[in-house]
Amino acid sequence: MNILITGGAGYIGSHTCVELLEAGHDIVIVDNFSNSNFKVLDNIKTITSKEFKFYEGDVKDKALLEKIFKENKIDAVIHFAAYKAVGESVTKPLMYYRNNLDTTITLLEVMNEFNCHNFVFSSSATVYGSPKSLPIKEDFPLSTTNPYGTTKLMNEQILSDVATADPDFSVIILRYFNPIGAHRSGLLGEDPNGIPNNLMPYIVRVATKELPSLNIFGNDYDTKDGTGVRDYIHVVDLAKGHLKAIEKAATSKGVKYYNLGTGTGYSVLELVKTFEKVNNIKVPYKIAPRRAGDIASCYADPTKAYQELGFKTELTIEDMCRDSYNYIITKEKHLND
Ligand code: UFG
Repeated sequence: MNILITGGAGYIGSHTCVELLEAGHDIVIVDNFSNSNFKVLDNIKTITSKEFKFYEGDVKDKALLEKIFKENKIDAVIHFAAYKAVGESVTKPLMYYRNNLDTTITLLEVMNEFNCHNFVFSSSATVYGSPKSLPIKEDFPLSTTNPYGTTKLMNEQILSDVATADPDFSVIILRYFNPIGAHRSGLLGEDPNGIPNNLMPYIVRVATKELPSLNIFGNDYDTKDGTGVRDYIHVVDLAKGHLKAIEKAATSKGVKYYNLGTGTGYSVLELVKTFEKVNNIKVPYKIAPRRAGDIASCYADPTKAYQELGFKTELTIEDMCRDSYNYIITKEKHLND
């Protein structure tokens, strides 16, 4: 298949490009580098030894999308391009609604124009809000607590309405749990600008001594050791889930929802201890107050993705800790060569 990847230079997008190319698909990437680096494209080529087409620009730019669809016969789209910082979405809600909704709507309009009907969407476990029980299944009630999460839920609704209106449309919605880790080569990974909000990027910065110590947000939750529990999934496993999803999209109609997680929850302390052990390095931490909006525990029931997509994660929490650190300690080299 020839697959358009929006946000293909981003963290999850770039790993997915590698898996698609290695599986023999052709890809076309569109990215505006708002949260990524052009060097990522070279690194995808280095890993796969494959060529692909690239367009620099914004997915809200309809003329650009029409040009892409005119110049390439696109069979399916995987839509990653979006803003993703929870805190920023609270202070800049309009920026989030404008960007995260307009991109999808423009994409869908152009797909209709060019008779392309296969869509895989990058959603999030955030749409489950504060779940009443665990593990989380796809049919649990949905709610959100911040504009970022609301854009994910609104996108899901838009896609579902489009699939209802057009019986030829096939939509696969993937709800990610907590992606961490990096490509084993050290050539692709996550390195957010500024002080990281998420746990693993923060741990890595403490390990490299760029930050003095980790704040653990709360040790009085009703969990195994009092710290928050999450379902961490290796980004390479997550990327492989997109390969399964694109194959499903090509052979089904309507809208389908899948959790992409491992089904196992680890606490903040467990992740810190595993990181220290695997990388043989200290990560100093302090217990800090709970972070507003956090829930105690969140982990997936991955059964549906296994039964219907044949998706099963393979990489361990040790792999995730090793690869996250390896990417950061080698990245100067890979991004500046
Ligand atoms: N945590 C700390 N210290 C930090 C950062 C995080 O203790 O400096 C804790 C949090 O309290 C939480 C856990 O680490 O218990 C994970 O926090 P993250 O910020 O890494 O991830 P979240 O689970 O809060 O959110 C992530 C994504 C969201 C997505 C959500 C889906 O950031 O975009 O998973 O479940 F919506």
